[in-house]
Amino acid sequence: MTHLSEAPIGLFDSGLGGLTVAREIMRNLPDEKIVYFGDTARVPYGNKSKGTVVRYSEQILRFLLTQNIKAVVIACNTASAMALEALRDKTDLPVLGVVSPGAVMAVKATRNKRVGVMATKSTIASESYVKEIHRLDPEVTVVGEPCPLLVPLVEEGWTNTKITDEILQHYLDHLMAQQVDTIIMGCTHYPLLRNAIARLVGDEITLVNPAYETALALKKVLDENGLLNTTPANKADPYPYRFFVSDEAERFRDFAGMILPVDVRSAEMIPIEKY
Ligand code: DGL
Repeated sequence: MTHLSEAPIGLFDSGLGGLTVAREIMRNLPDEKIVYFGDTARVPYGNKSKGTVVRYSEQILRFLLTQNIKAVVIACNTASAMALEALRDKTDLPVLGVVSPGAVMAVKATRNKRVGVMATKSTIASESYVKEIHRLDPEVTVVGEPCPLLVPLVEEGWTNTKITDEILQHYLDHLMAQQVDTIIMGCTHYPLLRNAIARLVGDEITLVNPAYETALALKKVLDENGLLNTTPANKADPYPYRFFVSDEAERFRDFAGMILPVDVRSAEMIPIEKY
């Protein structure tokens, strides 16, 4: 019988963006197996209501639980903002979102106690970053900026174009006018714009990547629960990653090939509404 610590981590996102979280877990926890689900049929979540995002996330959790996972990572800022508590009520496994690890780092990083959050409309409306930051330090001023145009630009591969710079500048102007010294890239796609954002805001501003912080938080949670895999994944299984989607598996594979440090050998399409 294999020990629970050798089981995979269940990761999910509204689509492709959560691959930036998968990438950080692959880099920072190379011995862990991953089962990734991307809800490519129902993306985007970023402009949907809480009720809908919770319902979708619960279906995905039910699917992931069929894969004998040992922990769940909500690799989507919008689903983390809206569905974390609901999913924690549904399973005894550790469930992590990306919002809290991002908030923890932002509170550590800010020197003037002014933090900007770039995110989808739904994440900003949920105020989850604000609540999490204020739980840690009520004196931090949090300035939210919904950036709805950035996800489609990234998915089209326009990470390095004049038009994207202009749109970014428009969003960043608002944050910079509020004198933030730290900005959370609070959406799965935004770390792919990191170079452009850094160029536009300059060296004085600290950029926080919740995907990276989540990988470190996951390591800690697995360790605390005796769940870190001590059998290197690539020894037990030469390809420790499995990918599932609800639509357009081919497009998913192409996009994943640009983000992940490994090839996506296959992405299986599953009928997520049945779960
Ligand atoms: N994954 C989403 C997030 O991080 C962005 C894409 C979407 O709107 O579904 O908020």
